[in-house]
Amino acid sequence: MAATIIDGKAFAARVRGQVAEHVARLKEVHGLTPGLAVVLVGEDPASQVYVRSKGKQTVEVGMASFEHKLPAETDQETLMALVEQLNSDPSVHGILVQLPLPDHLDEEAVLNAINPAKDVDGFHISNVGLLGTGQKAMVPCTPLGCLMMLREHHGSLSGMDAVVIGRSNIVGKPMAQLLLGDSCTVTIAHSRTKDLPEVVRRADIVVAAVGRPEMVPGDWIKPGASVIDVGINRVPAPEKGDGKTRLVGDCQFDSCAEIAGAITPVPGGVGPMTIACLLANTLTATCRAAG
Ligand code: GUN
Repeated sequence: MAATIIDGKAFAARVRGQVAEHVARLKEVHGLTPGLAVVLVGEDPASQVYVRSKGKQTVEVGMASFEHKLPAETDQETLMALVEQLNSDPSVHGILVQLPLPDHLDEEAVLNAINPAKDVDGFHISNVGLLGTGQKAMVPCTPLGCLMMLREHHGSLSGMDAVVIGRSNIVGKPMAQLLLGDSCTVTIAHSRTKDLPEVVRRADIVVAAVGRPEMVPGDWIKPGASVIDVGINRVPAPEKGDGKTRLVGDCQFDSCAEIAGAITPVPGGVGPMTIACLLANTLTATCRAAG
């Protein structure tokens, strides 16, 4: 195995440590405790796991965690009223509405109802526009975590060829904006891209964010490239016993690691960095609110 394994778990622990130090200073000097509100509608098992993890880590860095769990049949009006209430609550500095929302709810309307200054996910249209024009924005947590790992590994990314596989609003598009901001030459590939293997083979940086288990094999990777695997896919693992599962990324880890220069593992790569960046964004929102 040739590649350096980028340890997102250790990096995230360092980021959380720095956030905790700042939170302690904010409390001591300004008597201010950052507060993060997380809204979960319905009982999607993966979302429940993420929300529990977010709540635990929020408290661990010294912030206040407010969890709002609503039934799956919650109507639009009720959800919008909760967002309004959180917008005007001075103890809440960051608001996150866990996605996906149940189908009957208008996701766009809910995200755009969040006060952009409290939008720690960076999904409000104002923050999307600020990021797209290179202005000071709340930056979506998963792509921010990916960028931090790439900067840590490479230093400057200037002039590198980057391919982002996936065009979601949550990861693919903001990831491309961030890489462009760091002066990469950026290609966004997706399900209609012609000759995807050839496109990926040109890349010094590959960010895979499609949600298809082990879609990217090692022979798509340019020797020495950096591979950031955003996928978190649960697949059957009969070798572990009946009905057991394991987590895999969007890349075939073993074959990619033989060719790549650096790679993030799943689990222990991008995942922990996402929550660390959420806490960092909540700290930023608190500091901006305090002036
Ligand atoms: N669902 C999957 N990823 C995310 C995320 O980064 N933020 C929110 N709010 N929901 C998600």
